[in-house]
Amino acid sequence: MSAKVVAVVGATGAVGREMIRTLERRDYPVKQLRLFASGRSKGMHLKYKGEDVLVEELTETAFDNQGIDIALFSAGGDVSLKFSPIVAKAGTVVIDNSSAWRMKDDVPLVVPEVNPEDVKKHKGIIANPNCSTIQMVVALKPLHDFSRIKRIIVSTYQSVSGAGQKGIDELWNQTRDVMNGKDAVPSKFQKQIAFNLIPQIDVFTENYFTKEEMKMVNETHKIMHAPDIQVTATCVRVPVLRSHSESVYVETEKKIGRDKAIDLMSKFPNLVVMDDVANKVYPVPVEAEDKFETYVGRIRDDLFASNALNFWVVSDNLLKGAASNAVQIAELMI
Ligand code: A2P
Repeated sequence: MSAKVVAVVGATGAVGREMIRTLERRDYPVKQLRLFASGRSKGMHLKYKGEDVLVEELTETAFDNQGIDIALFSAGGDVSLKFSPIVAKAGTVVIDNSSAWRMKDDVPLVVPEVNPEDVKKHKGIIANPNCSTIQMVVALKPLHDFSRIKRIIVSTYQSVSGAGQKGIDELWNQTRDVMNGKDAVPSKFQKQIAFNLIPQIDVFTENYFTKEEMKMVNETHKIMHAPDIQVTATCVRVPVLRSHSESVYVETEKKIGRDKAIDLMSKFPNLVVMDDVANKVYPVPVEAEDKFETYVGRIRDDLFASNALNFWVVSDNLLKGAASNAVQIAELMI
């Protein structure tokens, strides 16, 4: 394996820090690690394999003649829109976690368990899908391979870390404030998130679905190469620190049934079936935390549609939903 010079852009953020840990935990062949963030973090150090690595400021010339092979970006859409083409032009392959490039025709949108072959089509930028979409398509792919999916109805229960470090801080601070009898003041989220939930993630579009919900529709079509799948999503922010959960209804062309679904899902890479309700075995967010896998349970035949199943799927949004999916894409490049 040829070792790579790897950069993490947005290294000080919630996902960026997980990218560094994931490179370490998965023993990615890193020849040299470079860390970038905004000017605010310039000069800071972050640990990688026990060593301090300097955080540099991302500038338009930061990647010129540096021999950086791969850049894992998680610094938000605006930073990515501006810097990804500059970095790609300098000869670095960008794996971008923001939504900026996901739906562009010449940018592959990749979940390595689902469409690894798409990586080859890249022209310098590869997009990492939305966290909610990733765990859903990992759970659905084995079913789709057995019998094509016609319809999906999904409701999400998304943790605050999906909104970055500020989202995590806001849940902690509001929890403390409410418990001390003070008002919870929303800042990152639209409303109070402590002891509450919010049926809005991102902004509303003209059709009354949110952008987050439309990402689940459009990205599922692109990743699965199946634009005919009917997807209805309702995305909800919940006061959970880490890991997203989803309730999924899926209709397929022919009947699969619970037993066959369990068999298919159990054999799929990085998908773990936890389904023994008599013993309270089903996935929950705190147990999925810090894991690379996606967990599925509560698998049951629909009561009314014979070609339909219902299930519950949980995964760590900072890992499979972001950092580890990105590092897995980087693994496809070696
Ligand atoms: P910084 O810590 O210097 O602000 P999160 O999603 O957890 O909020 O993290 C966002 C990440 O994106 C942080 O590492 C942040 O760095 C980085 N970032 C924000 N703006 C810029 C920018 N203009 N250039 C480079 N990195 C940026």
